[in-house]
Parts: sequence; structure tokens; C-alpha cells
Amino acid sequence: MIEVAQLRKEYGDLVAVDDISFTAETGAIFGLLGPNGAGKTTTIGCISGLLEPTAGTVRVRGHDVVRESAQAKASLGVVPQEIALYGDLSAGENVRFWGQAYGLRGAKLRARITDVLEITGLLDRAGDRVDQFSGGMKRRLNFACGIIHEPQVLLLDEPTVGVDPQSRVRLLDLVREQANQGVCVLYTTHYMEEAQSICDRLAIIDHGHVIAQGSLAELQAQMGERDLVRVSGSFDESELHRAFGHDADVEIVTVDDAQATLSVRKASSKLPTLLAALTGAGSEVRDITVSQPSLESLFIKLTGKELRE
Ligand SMILES: Nc1ncnc2c1ncn2[C@@H]1O[C@H](COP(=O)(O)OP(=O)(O)OP(=O)(O)O)[C@@H](O)[C@H]1O
Ligand SMILES: [Mg+2]
Repeated sequence: MIEVAQLRKEYGDLVAVDDISFTAETGAIFGLLGPNGAGKTTTIGCISGLLEPTAGTVRVRGHDVVRESAQAKASLGVVPQEIALYGDLSAGENVRFWGQAYGLRGAKLRARITDVLEITGLLDRAGDRVDQFSGGMKRRLNFACGIIHEPQVLLLDEPTVGVDPQSRVRLLDLVREQANQGVCVLYTTHYMEEAQSICDRLAIIDHGHVIAQGSLAELQAQMGERDLVRVSGSFDESELHRAFGHDADVEIVTVDDAQATLSVRKASSKLPTLLAALTGAGSEVRDITVSQPSLESLFIKLTGKELRE
């Protein structure tokens, strides 16, 4: 179990993580979802002991990561965002290196090397040099190195970036399996579909702050019955505010000259009236998309910006 309380991390004048608190439970996947620069890797660094928090506390299975760092680290496995592999060694040698670093020896080490290469689909490439691997293969090997010692707490920092769709499904299955075996998994991603499909609970972070937190159902409930309607064309901002200012079913999330984003109750049944109101407010509508409540629409509603930018 991981307990993060009022965590803050500054780099000089920059506050990368500002008052983040959450608890990740045993046997479940806790997601940290946020755009580039949100503070995900910094948070992972503070949990793994790589970075010292400026303020706040982090406990791993009850051990404070600063004061009892050896005990806290003993149960941790980390799969870093920056791939940490030796290019001039083979896949097998890389996994062996990490296994030995975590104290595995002899028959146990050999058995685990075979196991992790097999489950990541790399057993037939065990003897090949890693600098001849594709990006996706390196990602899978990076994952194998992180779980070689069967950690009880697993930190995964964007483990599927650059992985093809098939291997991604396989990697996500492996992550789910880890949780099913009782591992506490912390999973960072900027892919909202991934967070939506794999995480039991999650925190959405932006600029170092948690902006929403809970189970998927709780977060979706925050969107309520509202769909997100994105319209492109040309808009008169003040006219739009005047047109929808008193309409309880429509909330303007963002609007500029060329783009308007609205949060609309039961949008699909309201499209004709919505279009009429937009045109009546001096808008020209060129394209319109309606999205069901999702993590992405919640993020847009809370921050006024797209998650992927
Ligand atoms: N070593 C460092 N020195 C100074 N600033 C840093 C350092 N590492 C990260 N930052 C800054 O801290 C903020 C958070 O960075 P972080 O790497 O934690 O974000 P992230 O959510 O992991 O982003 P990404 O999705 O791009 O990996 C960013 O503004 C980044 O520029
Ligand atoms: Mg990162």
C-alpha cells in the first residue's frame, strides 16, 4: 500500500508537485492521469526514493520513504519512463542484472529470468543485444526488469508509450495480473482511455495539483448527465454568453474565435435547438462533435483544455 500525504516537490522556483495526497491499495491499480509536465514522474520519484520531497510524507507498506528508506524500498519495483537498459547486453543479461541487484541468486534467479521473459513475449529474443530491439520490445523488457523480484508495490511510469496495440493489450493484461496477485500498482499515463480501462481508482493531476480523485464511477458521476459538445467555426464570445447565460442545460467551458466547448445535458436530443441557438448568437458552425461523459470530458470541463496537447 502507498500513502502519499500533502506531497510537495520544488525544483528551484518551480513547484512540480503541490499538495498531492492519495492512497493506493493492495491488489488494485491506482492511476495518476495527467498531461505532460503534470508532475507524474516527480511523484513517482518521491515514492521510489529517487527524489527527496520538499514537504509532505510518503509511506510504502507503512514505511516512511525518507526515514526508513531501506524498508520502504525493499517491497518496491519500478518501471521508469526513461528506459533503463544496457544496450550492449542481451535481454537475458539485462534481466539477470536487475534480478541480482534485487538479491536474487541461483535457481530462483534463473527461474524468474525465464518467467519474466516468457510473460513479456521476449523468451525467443533472450540472447539478442538490446540495442537491436525495437522501442516496443525495449518497453516490454523494461517492464520485465521491474517485476523480476516479485515486488509487492509496483510503480509504472507510462509503461506503454510506443508499444504497438497488440503488445499494449498484453502489457495491460500483465499489469492487471499483478494487481490480481495482490500487488499494489501505481500506474501513470496521459492516455485517458488507458486509465479508464485499467485503473480501479485514480487521481487526475494538472500543474502539480490533484483536480479530481475517486473511482471511475465517482469521477464519471462528476460529469453528471452532461455530454461534451465541441464546435468549430467562428464565434462571438459575448453573444454566446448572452445566449446560454440563463440556460441551465448548457454550460460554456471554453470559447474563442474558432472553437467553442460546451457541457450540455442530454446533448443528442438537444442538437437541433443547440444549433439554432448557436446560429442565433452569430456563430458559424463548421463541425460539431458530441462526446459521452468520460475522463477526457471531465478533464476538459475542469481545466478548459484538452488532455492531449
Ligand atoms: N530535474 C528537474 N529539474 C527542474 N525541473 C524539473 C525536473 N524534472 C521535472 N521538472 C519539471 O517539473 C514539472 C513536472 O515534471 P514531471 O516530469 O513530473 O511531469 P510528468 O507528468 O511526468 O510529464 P510527462 O507526461 O511529460 O512525463 C515540469 O514542469 C518539469 O519541467
Ligand atoms: Mg513523466
